[in-house]
Amino acid sequence: MKSNVRKVILNAFREANGEYISGEKLANKIGCSRTAVWKHIEELKKEGFQVEAVRKKGYLLIDHSKKLSADEIYLGLHTEEIGRSVYFYETVPSTQKLAKELALNGANHGTLIVADEQTEGRGRLVRNWYSPKGTGLWMSLIIRPEIAIQQAPQLTLLTAVAVVEAIKDVAGIQPEIKWPNDILISGKKVCGILTELQAEESHIQSLIIGIGINVNQKQEDFPSELQTIATSLKIEADKLIDRTKLLQCFCYRFEKLLNTYIDNGFLPIKQLWEGYSCSIGREITARTLNGNYHGIALGINEDGVLLLKQQSGEIREIYSADIEIT
Ligand code: BTN
Repeated sequence: MKSNVRKVILNAFREANGEYISGEKLANKIGCSRTAVWKHIEELKKEGFQVEAVRKKGYLLIDHSKKLSADEIYLGLHTEEIGRSVYFYETVPSTQKLAKELALNGANHGTLIVADEQTEGRGRLVRNWYSPKGTGLWMSLIIRPEIAIQQAPQLTLLTAVAVVEAIKDVAGIQPEIKWPNDILISGKKVCGILTELQAEESHIQSLIIGIGINVNQKQEDFPSELQTIATSLKIEADKLIDRTKLLQCFCYRFEKLLNTYIDNGFLPIKQLWEGYSCSIGREITARTLNGNYHGIALGINEDGVLLLKQQSGEIREIYSADIEIT
């Protein structure tokens, strides 16, 4: 089936809002016969969509909440640019790797690469990122902001705010942010963010923002080394979460925050970030490549750098570290 026909049908189902839609209406929308509509619906069913057909009533799209696909993502996306171009894969080594290739080949601002499973998911500091099939959101977003290279970390912090707000909207729980970009619930990690940039001289060509959210894993699904440090939205909210809705909501929140950032600068984002942060005002140890530093986390500066007040009174700027709240 041509992708525009698929989009017309899925849009029509969305507009029908859980009601039956007649074959005739669908035929008019697509510009084809009712027999052709029936054939298109059969194809959608083969792809895994559950469509009920009832004589004299028409077609009803039943549960479309569990399957992750480019069409599902398109259906119900309320953004202008973010996620408007989606690449969906059942399984890939890493969406981050694919996104980099696509960005080099000129992919548009807002392009999103999503996978149901990653076999070589990558985390910060050259770690692996556990990305099993069917339970999480593993995605990489390509953006092309007109900003200086040193401002790039601000967009990682903006992404963390967008994730927190999307989780609040969809799962009804409010996570916290641990600098720079770990999203925690009950002190355990539910989401990680990995930002990489492509630049020429001082000009950013693209930012690739990789986001991994543990959505519907059960506690026993995590490997033993993650059992005590990782959690999922399902575990914390005690209900299955619709991954598509979460993704769409993230795109919406991200786009709104990005517009605020472009219009008003980093300050409003910084304030939101600090409001969600669990490290500010706390005693922390920052483990950096140059050694460990201990002190009180005062906040972040305009560039998103963490300000740590050491016992000596000296304020140290932390650019990259693992943080332990003590
Ligand atoms: C972290 O270490 O906290 C960052 C984890 C980032 C994981 C995401 S999942 C989607 C994207 N693809 C990857 O290989 N990594 C990122």
